Amino acid sequence: MATHAVINGSRRDFLLGAALLAMSPLAARAADAPLKIATVGAGRIGSALGGLWVKAGHPVMFSSRHPEELKDLVLNLGPLAQAGSVAEAIAFADAVLLAVPYRALPQIGKDHAPALAAKVLVLDACNPFPSRDGEIAVWARERGAGRATAELLPGARLVRAFNAIGAARLPEIASRRGVRTGMPMAGDDVHAIAVASSLMREINFEPVLIGPLTMGRHLVPGTPLAGEHTPAEIRSIAATLK
Ligand SMILES: NC(=O)c1ccc[n+]([C@@H]2O[C@H](COP(=O)([O-])OP(=O)(O)OC[C@H]3O[C@@H](n4cnc5c(N)ncnc54)[C@H](OP(=O)(O)O)[C@@H]3O)[C@@H](O)[C@H]2O)c1
Repeated sequence: MATHAVINGSRRDFLLGAALLAMSPLAARAADAPLKIATVGAGRIGSALGGLWVKAGHPVMFSSRHPEELKDLVLNLGPLAQAGSVAEAIAFADAVLLAVPYRALPQIGKDHAPALAAKVLVLDACNPFPSRDGEIAVWARERGAGRATAELLPGARLVRAFNAIGAARLPEIASRRGVRTGMPMAGDDVHAIAVASSLMREINFEPVLIGPLTMGRHLVPGTPLAGEHTPAEIRSIAATLK
């Protein structure tokens, strides 16, 4: 496993690094080869995204605290889909999607942070909602969602994305021809960003890196980047954010 390649420095350096990254061999290789994916959480967003990646040709293990309840989901998706415990799914995967209520993340970090730190990508779709998640969400909002998840999952190559788009919209967006919806993302690790970008393009989203993981605080429902935007709209909104 290569050591983390991290983008540091000014916003300009960051965006330059990101532009070079889009052309990197790693991004191209990730687009060609199947990647073993785990979803931690297989509710609305976990099942929708995992299902689209199965249809794109990736083996996906869906997980939750009750994997026996995921039988119908994986049966309908065919042989590339399977269900398992959270530990089994993380062990199986190269890349992990976190799709659980935010209040589940502290325990997931305690149980699985070292295993998650070994993955090429941990994609964080989780949102802290105080009304749903309690105190941990208040803390995460204060820290900013990107930094907070990084503290709960030390060492993980995190990319924050898919946080503020409705799960029910994903199949329609993925099936559109000729036009890609933008997907804002924030992250620090160049390889993880490249892998996330490939996975987004395969399901018809155009990745738009808005900045380092600390910018993940802008990727929650109810913020200007929430909802569906063109890539150009995302760039223009992101340019106004601090
Ligand atoms: N719904 C959306 O459109 C949407 C869009 C973007 C982002 N999000 C965010 O994505 C996250 C998931 O939302 P959702 O709507 O998909 O929720 P959901 O439909 O309620 O699904 C949550 C999933 O997480 C699992 N889970 C809960 N606690 C767990 C734990 N401790 N360990 C492992 N698995 C656990 C649940 O299964 P068990 O209870 O059986 O374990 C279930 O599979 C939230 O943070 C949400 O804000 C949602």
